[in-house]
Amino acid sequence: MEQISSESRKGPTPMGATPMPPDLERHLAGMSEHKQDILRRSHDYLMPHRVATWLGAGVPLVIGRREGYRIWDVDGHELQDLHLNGGTFNFGHRNPELVAELVDAVRTLDVGNHHFPSEARALLAERLAELTPGDLQYSVLAPSGSEAIDMAIKSARRATGRRKVVSFERGYHGRSGLSGAAGNDDHARFFDSAFDDDFVRVPFSDADALADTLCDDDVALFMAEPLPATAGFPIPEPGFYAEARRLCDEHGTLLLVDEVQTGLGRSGRLWAIEHFDAEPDMLVTGKGLGGGLYPIGVLVLSPDAAGWLHEDGWGYVSTFGGSELGCRIALTALEIATRPATTQLVERNAARLRAGLDELAERHAHLVEIRQLGVIFALRFAGDHGALVMAAELYRAGLWAMPAGFDRSVLQFKLGLLVDDAYCDEALEKLDGALARVGGGPSGSAG
Ligand SMILES: Cc1ncc(COP(=O)(O)O)c(C=O)c1O
Repeated sequence: MEQISSESRKGPTPMGATPMPPDLERHLAGMSEHKQDILRRSHDYLMPHRVATWLGAGVPLVIGRREGYRIWDVDGHELQDLHLNGGTFNFGHRNPELVAELVDAVRTLDVGNHHFPSEARALLAERLAELTPGDLQYSVLAPSGSEAIDMAIKSARRATGRRKVVSFERGYHGRSGLSGAAGNDDHARFFDSAFDDDFVRVPFSDADALADTLCDDDVALFMAEPLPATAGFPIPEPGFYAEARRLCDEHGTLLLVDEVQTGLGRSGRLWAIEHFDAEPDMLVTGKGLGGGLYPIGVLVLSPDAAGWLHEDGWGYVSTFGGSELGCRIALTALEIATRPATTQLVERNAARLRAGLDELAERHAHLVEIRQLGVIFALRFAGDHGALVMAAELYRAGLWAMPAGFDRSVLQFKLGLLVDDAYCDEALEKLDGALARVGGGPSGSAG
């Protein structure tokens, strides 16, 4: 691939665009020319606000090399990856088994023709029916989690003849039309694409609020991420999902679990909802399902929710939805996630990291709360923006972890499924050092 060089860049700034202002330019000092040039081009042609935000936050990351659970900035800064882009890299960056599967698949397949059945799509759908809870049976194959969520909303409306959708405040289900209107809809508002009458929000894990919202028997769908990532992976109240299931049954509402982040083994079970005693009518998976190599998102539906599939075979079409290459990767990803060796490793790493974190919390008052389900960890720090400060400090120490989108005091601290003891210990050591620097030293010194 051609490398970006100063010579090959078209010019300093495109016509009419704003050049990188001096206060941003100053962040480029000390970087290689190559990296400066990527950042300027990204600013000038692609994502000015993001470049400004990351530079201002002290995270000037431009990812180059990537292997296993590590990434390297193009200038060589090595980072443990404890964000994994929301689980996209659950099985590691460029997992050798998944790469081999993709290479093998591309010898004989391509995206396929979505108008027709195919072996790869049929096998994936059958496997998902076997592996998902309850009577979930039919799959709708999409190119992303957002589109799978859109189809969940449409399926629920078609099945119930109702329009309303209930989701959690501070939830996130994607940024396409319907998915973007669910959960936190700031960006739907930004683009004047919110649907105020149709999308209703309730506080996380609040069964009374949910009961009030469903009581008019006019809600098509209650959609929930079992532990909402953007809210900082809060743990639901005991019995909440069982009660949500009961309420949905009572009021004729369908229940969707969004397992885009929480699924595929990270919680210690294949799907996080399996911890909570409730069988959904629909489940959405994505991100890690494509192994970080090929995009795929899937909506799995119960027969009752999937009625439209019998009525209109073209009710949903997507050229790249369920690409055969993506299906082959997804089948392999499911195979790795369900291996007993993987489950055992997750259990072991979860316990090791938890023990280390508990010990750190005793010594550093700045770490005020640890949330955990399997290897999904979230750490709450003192101060409203505690996680932003910690993320920048950890970045300098060689660890990438991302603050929760709608709670800047919480840092998502998520192990991959296949890490080893040494990896956990290294992460704990970096966290210990960062806590000492940010919290002003051990024990009770946090602000
Ligand atoms: C919980 C959840 N649902 C849905 C999505 C949307 O998935 P995608 O980005 O593949 O459209 C995301 C993406 O971050 C997510 O975290």
